[in-house]
Amino acid sequence: MKNILFFVITASLVFSMSFAVPSSGGKDCKYAGVKTCKACHKSKKRGDQYSVWASSKHAKAFTTLQTAEADKIAKKRGSDKPAAETKECLSCHVTGYNVDGAEFGKKFKKEDGVTCEACHGPGSAYKKLHNKKDKKDQAKEACFTVPSISDGSAKNLCVKCHNKNSPSYKGFDLNKFWSKIKHPMPK
Ligand code: HEC
Ligand code: HEC
Ligand code: HEC
Ligand code: HEC
Repeated sequence: MKNILFFVITASLVFSMSFAVPSSGGKDCKYAGVKTCKACHKSKKRGDQYSVWASSKHAKAFTTLQTAEADKIAKKRGSDKPAAETKECLSCHVTGYNVDGAEFGKKFKKEDGVTCEACHGPGSAYKKLHNKKDKKDQAKEACFTVPSISDGSAKNLCVKCHNKNSPSYKGFDLNKFWSKIKHPMPK
C-alpha cells in the first residue's frame, strides 16, 4: 500500500512538473508580437528597451534574408528556394520558428525578426502578470523568462543561434555581444 501511494505521489509530481515548465506549446502562451511589448517598454523612464531592440540587428534579422547575398548563401547550402523561404535560415532569423508547437497571435509578424519574445518567451499570457510584483510566479508559469547574464542562462540562449550552424559565424563573445544589445531598467 505504501508503495502504491509513493508511486501515485511521485507520478503526479512528475506530471504537474512537466506542466510547470514554461513551454510555448502551452495553449495560453502565444507569440503576441513586438508591438505588444512596445506599448509599455518604449518609455524613457523605464529604459526604452524597445528602441534598443529596434536599432539592433535582431530587428533586421528577417529582412537580411530578403537580400541577394542571402539568396546566394542559401543556394550554396543546397536550398532551391529564396533564403526568406528556406527553413534552415528561418530557424534562427525569426521568432518562434524553431520552437515545437509554437503559436502566434494576430499582431505577430515574422518580419520583425528576432524579437523580445525570442528571449523572454511568448507573451500573450504573461503580459498582464509580469509587471505586478505579486504575480511574478504566475508570469513564470505563463512562459515568462528573464535569462541571466551572471548565471550563464543568457549565454545558453544566445548560442542556440550564435553557433557554427550560422553560415556567417565568426565566434561569439558574450560580453562583447551583450554590450551591443543590453537594455537595463533604471533602478
Ligand atoms: C501593460 C504594460 C506592459 C506590457 C504590455 C509589457 N510589459 Fe514588460 N514590464 C512592464 C512593467 C511595468 C515592468 C516592471 C515591473 C517591475 O518593476 O516589477 C516590466 C518588466 C519587464 C521585464 C523585467 C522583469 C523582471 O522581473 O526583471 C521584462 C523582461 C519584460 N517586462 C518583458 C516584456 C515583454 C517581452 C513584453 C511583450 C511580450 C512585455 N514585457 C510587455 C510593463 C509591461
Ligand atoms: C533566435 C536566434 C537568436 C538568439 C536567441 C540570439 N540571437 Fe543574436 N542574432 C541572431 C541573428 C539571426 C543575428 C543576425 C541578424 C542580421 O544581421 O540580420 C544576430 C545578431 C546579433 C548581434 C549583432 C552582431 C553584429 O555582427 O553586430 C548581436 C550583438 C547579438 N546578436 C547578440 C545576441 C545576444 C547577446 C544574445 C543572447 C542574449 C543573442 N544575440 C541571442 C539571432 C539570435
Ligand atoms: C544557427 C543559426 C543560424 C542559421 C541556421 C542561419 N543564420 Fe544567418 N545569422 C545568424 C547569426 C547569429 C548571424 C549574425 C552573425 C554571426 O555572428 O554569426 C547571422 C547573420 C547572417 C547574415 C548577415 C551577414 C553578416 O556577416 O553579418 C546573413 C546574410 C545571413 N545570416 C544569412 C543566412 C542564410 C541565407 C541562412 C540560411 C542558409 C542563415 N543565415 C542561417 C544565425 C543563423
Ligand atoms: C537576444 C535576447 C533578448 C532580446 C531580443 C530582448 N531581451 Fe530583454 N533581456 C535579455 C537578457 C539576457 C536580460 C537579462 C540581463 C541581465 O542578466 O541583467 C534581459 C533583461 C530585460 C529586462 C530587465 C532589465 C533590468 O535591468 O532588470 C527588461 C525590462 C527586458 N529585458 C525587456 C525586453 C524587451 C521589452 C525586449 C524587446 C523590445 C527585449 N527585452 C528583448 C535578453 C533579451
